[in-house]
Amino acid sequence: MKFTVAIDGPAAAGKGTISRLIAARFGFAHLDTGLLYRAVGAKVAEGAEAIEAAQSLSESDLARDDLRSLEAGQAASKVAAIPEVRRALLEFQRRFARAEGGAVLDGRDIGTVICPEADVKLFVTASAEVRAHRRWLEVGGDEAQVLAEVRERDERDMNRADAPLRPAEDAVIIDTSDLSIDEAADRACAEVLRHR
Ligand code: C5P
Repeated sequence: MKFTVAIDGPAAAGKGTISRLIAARFGFAHLDTGLLYRAVGAKVAEGAEAIEAAQSLSESDLARDDLRSLEAGQAASKVAAIPEVRRALLEFQRRFARAEGGAVLDGRDIGTVICPEADVKLFVTASAEVRAHRRWLEVGGDEAQVLAEVRERDERDMNRADAPLRPAEDAVIIDTSDLSIDEAADRACAEVLRHR
């Protein structure tokens, strides 16, 4: 059985958590596509050329444990604005989406570019303040600085020319600002059940 769930939205809106819960509940494979851009960004920070880094990305590049930092997120959103980088990562994501047994992919352009034919499209969002607060609980430091970084990344992701962050026309929007993780996950699972 092939079944694709596309989950897009800005940083720290809850996409990752919701994707993992859907994958566990329905037995789907899960791909966090942000990790691909984070890995390319990390290689560029070490001196690699962006397009070449994207074309030669390997499993071990994705397994690095320094990809979760705020810096890695910023580096990711910079390389993500380069069309050739996006193109180099496209086929891997499309192949993953067609995995036998079902797949859930989360990112920024899954419903719009990678899998426009996805069975379920969700756009998971929340106010910048709520997202920054959640991220700050994870990473600590200065909360105002975390908010500034969230806003900067939103700005870059929404305004780039190639595959900007926006909901697909047929995406269901889930605003998690006032929802618990369980409530948000219940809504997302209900959408999957409606289409299965
Ligand atoms: O989701 P995450 O915060 O890990 O993504 C890091 C960055 O990678 C995003 O800010 C965005 O610029 C980029 N990205 C993207 N397209 C995706 C996933 C992530 O452009 N499908």
